[in-house]
Amino acid sequence: MVFENSQAFAEEMDRKDELSEFRNHFHFPAISGKESIYLCGNSLGLQPKKTIEFINQELEDWKNLGVEGHMHARHPWFPYHEFLRDSTARLVGALPHEVVVMNSLTANLHFLMVSFYRPNKKRYKIIFEKGPFSSDRYAFESQAKFHANHGGDQLFDPSKALIELEPREGELTHRTADILKTIEQHADELALVLIGGVNYYTGQLFDMKAITAAAHKAGALVGFDLAHATGNVALQLHDWDVDFAAWCSYKYLNAGPGAVGGAFVNDRHSSNANLPRFAGWWGNDPDTRLPCQ
Ligand SMILES: Cc1ncc(COP(=O)(O)O)c(C=O)c1O
Repeated sequence: MVFENSQAFAEEMDRKDELSEFRNHFHFPAISGKESIYLCGNSLGLQPKKTIEFINQELEDWKNLGVEGHMHARHPWFPYHEFLRDSTARLVGALPHEVVVMNSLTANLHFLMVSFYRPNKKRYKIIFEKGPFSSDRYAFESQAKFHANHGGDQLFDPSKALIELEPREGELTHRTADILKTIEQHADELALVLIGGVNYYTGQLFDMKAITAAAHKAGALVGFDLAHATGNVALQLHDWDVDFAAWCSYKYLNAGPGAVGGAFVNDRHSSNANLPRFAGWWGNDPDTRLPCQ
């Protein structure tokens, strides 16, 4: 196909787009009485027309059933996350038991770093892409500070823990070969590689498979912030052997502001009972989740 910079070409492409019908499933905000062309789905996805029906159903069940809704709502709330398991696994290319829908993205990153950022005196560095979303940088910095001192013993200097990848001079995006080289160069001191699968600002899609393989070769673990990837690009987290990932659902999944995020933990780790973790009842074996069971 030869790209043409013309309205006629754009309209022809729209006509041929198999997915174009999906536009009709969303509400578009009107600006000065005119329906807008919406290019902000990377920040907040549009509201699907069905949302109001689904929300009203839950409100009605809550109104009519109170606490009984946990077990007897049309979609009982107690196992609610289980309804989302298979579709979430398909979205990120995971096995169903490797994913869960819970918390916000940043909260999930912190929980995951509790388990997967285990720095010591020698290996404590985190590699991430140039210009990550601010929240990620705050999370990385605060995790490094949190771990730097252990029982009064200074394990490492937290100001030296973060390695921000740099694109080549005059370039805006990273070359995969350069990322792999940086990983190799820091192999002895690297604890974690944590990159946005798609960078929020440049839109660069990273080669997650190659980055994961290089980080593992260097003896480090690998996670991805998939805020701009989940629902946007094809993902194969399990096959790529990624260790962990987290994402939000209010951008390309159109779940609405403040909607619950998601997390992936490779089943190599989820079956490891010795993995350090911050526990709660939902992460427990469902058969022994409650003391009375
Ligand atoms: C790449 C990226 N990471 C993290 C966040 C923070 O997400 P949350 O506020 O849901 O924790 C955002 C929010 O836009 C983001 O774009």
